[in-house]
Amino acid sequence: MSVYKLRYGTPEEVVPSRFAPTPKCEILEEVPEGAKGITFTRSARGCVLNIPLDPTAEVYGFGLQLKGFRQRGQKKMIRPNADPLSNSGDSHAPVPFFVTTAGFGVYVDTARYASFYCGKEMRPADGRPSSAEEDMIAQQKKAREAGDGKSDGDLAIDVFSTLYEAKRGTERNLVTVEIPVAQGVDIYFITGKDILSLVSQYNMLSGGGCMPPMWGLGVLYRCDMKFGADEVLKMARRIRELQIPCDILGLEPGWQSHTYSCSYLWDAGRFPHPEETVKEITDMGFHLNLWEHAFVHPTSPVYRDLLPYSGDWLVWEGLVPDFTLPEARKIFADYQKKLVAMGVSGFKLDECDGSDFTGGWTFPNHACFPSGMDGEQYHSLFGTLYLQTLLDALGNERTLSEVRNLGALAASYPFALYSDLYGHRDFITGVVNAGFSGLLWSPEVRHATDKADLLRRVQCVVFSAQALINAFYLSEMPWEMHGCTDEVRELLRVRMALLPYLFTAFYDYHTEGKPPVRALVTDYGEEEFARTVADEYLFGDAMIVAPIPSGEEERDVWLPAGVWYDFFTGERYEGGIHHRATEGIPVYVKEGTLLPLAEPVEFVRPDTRFDITLRAYGDCENAVARLAEESDTTYAATYTVHRLTKDSEGDISPRYRVVGIEKIG
Ligand code: GAL
Repeated sequence: MSVYKLRYGTPEEVVPSRFAPTPKCEILEEVPEGAKGITFTRSARGCVLNIPLDPTAEVYGFGLQLKGFRQRGQKKMIRPNADPLSNSGDSHAPVPFFVTTAGFGVYVDTARYASFYCGKEMRPADGRPSSAEEDMIAQQKKAREAGDGKSDGDLAIDVFSTLYEAKRGTERNLVTVEIPVAQGVDIYFITGKDILSLVSQYNMLSGGGCMPPMWGLGVLYRCDMKFGADEVLKMARRIRELQIPCDILGLEPGWQSHTYSCSYLWDAGRFPHPEETVKEITDMGFHLNLWEHAFVHPTSPVYRDLLPYSGDWLVWEGLVPDFTLPEARKIFADYQKKLVAMGVSGFKLDECDGSDFTGGWTFPNHACFPSGMDGEQYHSLFGTLYLQTLLDALGNERTLSEVRNLGALAASYPFALYSDLYGHRDFITGVVNAGFSGLLWSPEVRHATDKADLLRRVQCVVFSAQALINAFYLSEMPWEMHGCTDEVRELLRVRMALLPYLFTAFYDYHTEGKPPVRALVTDYGEEEFARTVADEYLFGDAMIVAPIPSGEEERDVWLPAGVWYDFFTGERYEGGIHHRATEGIPVYVKEGTLLPLAEPVEFVRPDTRFDITLRAYGDCENAVARLAEESDTTYAATYTVHRLTKDSEGDISPRYRVVGIEKIG
């Protein structure tokens, strides 16, 4: 289990690692056994790496992939894109990193739109036939010798189909990476016994997973973008009146005097007294999150200062600041600090992905930036550099915010990704895939066609890294529109009951790189079937979630070997495939788990004390429930991990009190 840095040719200067946090793992420079067969070539197009791949190995990763899970046999182009409509690699957050079931993963340190051909076979360089061709020739010869009177043509077809079947999945034996423009590249070759070890090391290479404040894991409700202060306050009061759990309130474009591009000024008509409005919102226990994007409108107070530090193209008439430059970062962050000083504790950083498919509304790939970067490189780094600037503005207070573009080495940033797409199956695929590449993904709820659609979507939101209701075009809460407020409140209370458990999973992400939400193959890869499971995931170490997509009423669920219990009903299941038909969401807890469940609060205050019931699933004689606690919500916070057993009771700490134990099974 190690991370090796290997250099081929002369890498470019603008690469993701240059802008990434300090790695929290050792980096070795020798060439490990598994990397000895890698070849490197240069051409006028850029450079190419050929990485040998075991014929039976599976490949996963490449960032937030919404359309595919098993990547063997696929071509993936690492290109940021706001409309990832096909399984091409295009993504809000494409990442040049993959893991395999063959004990290694590779991160390619490039800001170019690299292409990965996963599991292809090349012709041998000396002009010999390839192994597939050789086999085919030999078979054909044998068939002809057997002389069954068939024509050469028929024989060829027979042989081809037999071989094709027999060799499917074996003839492909390379991951080929083409990197445009660059004449060299560094790769990080990661070895480990399973995918969990590979992704954890990648996350530590990225500086460790992010550690949101506990309130960040509560529910985030984004208001209608047309709302002014009165309507926002009315919505905030209504949320509290209905006792809908909610920690964060988000304002959409309407808070600004000009958007597309942005002024970052409060709109005087809609928000005449912003200081007071912000105070009223935060006094109700909400954290406030503001929408923006990075394209700076001429009416913005920072426009003039940013002129010399911006690219040569405009987007929506706005400047594109070059956030690799300390000057641009400082001007932008200093201004946003004023919003933070008013009480804002998070941002939604929109439109930093750009689209090649819907009007090409962003800066071109050949755009020039004052730092010397071109548009292609900036597209790959934009979200990351933009959020770093906003983290400067937020200062020492931690957040869980939103961003629509991320790329390589991004695990340490407390920002979840989101999309304008809305296919529920794609959203579930996103939840499953994000954990391969150090990303958090919000399968957000917006409108719903009916109550059933809404409930299916909320179910998945409850069991994801960030619980987001993005009602940016809805004047009413979607559950009030569909008459299911009670059902939604109950679901969101499940989220709040799991908050301490989820927070502890984030602590493990932070300290060990273990993703809080991850595909089953990550932990259970030694079971062949786990490799194919694209629509279930682990939520923390002990729970498996198998969402039923909107529009459907049933599904098959695969459970790894052992005994599992339904989280909602307590019913016992053995490993294997089970058919489930339910209006609820199938969620399972592993036998031997002591699950800490909190009495749900509506929102987290600094002094919230969680009343914990320990739910013992099966034999918990030696089980331990871990509960992480933060000393405060700053980056200087220290963490304590409490280890509870079935005998723990009463006060544990200022944050936790055990009020009972409940036995299941
Ligand atoms: C989109 C974004 C949405 C919403 C909208 C407001 O770009 O993805 O979530 O914020 O802008 O205009």
